[in-house]
Amino acid sequence: MSYLGIDIGTSGVKALLMDRAGRALGEATARAVEPVRPHPGWSEQNPADWWDAVTKALDSLSKSHPAEMAAVRGIGLSGHMHGATLLGANDEVLRPCILWNDGRSAAECAEMEAALPRLREIAGNIAMPGFTAPKIAWVRKNEPQIHAKISKVLLPKAYVRLLLTGNYVEEMSDAAGTLWLDVAKRDWSDQLLAVTGLTRAHMPELVEGTAPSGTLKPDLARRWGMGRDVVIAGGAGDNAAAACGIGAIQPGEGFVSLGTSGVLFVSNETFRPNTAGAVHAFCHAIPDTWHQMGVILSATDSLNWLSHVTGRSQPELSGLAEAGFNGPGEEIFLPYLSGERTPHNNAGARGSFVGLSHLSDTARLAQAVMEGVTFAFRDCQRVLGEAGTSFGQLLAVGGGSKSPLWLKLIATNLDTPIALPEDGDFGGALGAARLGLCAAEGADPAEVMTMPGIRRVIEPDPALRDAYTQQYQRYRALYPAIEEARK
Ligand code: XUL
Repeated sequence: MSYLGIDIGTSGVKALLMDRAGRALGEATARAVEPVRPHPGWSEQNPADWWDAVTKALDSLSKSHPAEMAAVRGIGLSGHMHGATLLGANDEVLRPCILWNDGRSAAECAEMEAALPRLREIAGNIAMPGFTAPKIAWVRKNEPQIHAKISKVLLPKAYVRLLLTGNYVEEMSDAAGTLWLDVAKRDWSDQLLAVTGLTRAHMPELVEGTAPSGTLKPDLARRWGMGRDVVIAGGAGDNAAAACGIGAIQPGEGFVSLGTSGVLFVSNETFRPNTAGAVHAFCHAIPDTWHQMGVILSATDSLNWLSHVTGRSQPELSGLAEAGFNGPGEEIFLPYLSGERTPHNNAGARGSFVGLSHLSDTARLAQAVMEGVTFAFRDCQRVLGEAGTSFGQLLAVGGGSKSPLWLKLIATNLDTPIALPEDGDFGGALGAARLGLCAAEGADPAEVMTMPGIRRVIEPDPALRDAYTQQYQRYRALYPAIEEARK
């Protein structure tokens, strides 16, 4: 028996086969067409490109691993969150999907909160442009002819699920990021839906991430050499899926993700919002479990930007920073290149370099960028703490976790040991495959979602703690001052 996880990312799809014991049997990836930015701050992608990437990845797996594909009993889906896929009466896609990192709907967020003063209380979250509902409010205002044709609104992985199964179904962790879910009750909220002119009829049916959501269509099962009755699990939004992949499902367990965006994720036994700090308080993909996240929009994307500007690769930049490292310098970087969610909830915020001198060379700028992203995580830790959340150790995931300096900066600034998993695959695809196993076999998530072996634990450096606390205070003072000056 085997299980398949499909992770639909903004830049591509990864499909992972695993056995009953959770060991990887094979994988395939396919790149998606990059999102387009028709205007500054906008970000859109064609849903057809996700499907294209999914079929490419599974076509390739069925060629390279036919026996394992024939043995698949359950499939789980993980997807980038919040994107608004608008379907008409015949399931036709009405416009390109407005993605999670699209900041166009700040005005609509304010209008929605004014229209329903209890919005934060019901949704447990602030109306942020990244979430789904404000994107529909924008469409209603600016493209009313499209809004009038909406028959269903699906998140990216629910659209892929529709093509895999023919069913309109979403699960709780992703649904929580729409701003239409009563997150405490794990149900759509009629009041929240009404704010954007929608009803339950526009929404997919809800299931838990570990529950079945349908079976694979027979023609697709034939195409990929799979049996009949392959169960598709509810799955998870990419962050909850990553948590399932690294076994962060018990209260206080979590991870720090250094990807394009940065996430500080902690599981909670109850629903614990902190809207004042722009904390994301969402359902986990496991029944009766919730989680909080601080989300920063440009993590490795900040180093990526410096890499474009300097013509040096990201590994080169982190190597240069590491070689010259001697504690915090004069330069301070604010990583708000795409605006910021936690803790500022300001799509219009912009990045800054402060404290430049003739000595500010590439190495020092790279160090400041890594420190700025680290301080943004420290902000996230602060607002999660205000909501009563603490954690003992965090796992590090994502491309940026390859940098030892970055991990040391994070451990020291969060005053938290950072554990680096052994080589292997602990991302959303593994978490999705584990959810596929739970749905197909009725397995207990606590037994399936185990933690990986740990390669190394990076401890906070006490010699650097005070210097970084002072630098963090300077960093914190800069955002309000700079925003004031930019008005
Ligand atoms: C979470 C978020 C991002 C996307 C990235 O709120 O917007 O982490 O899910 O794929």
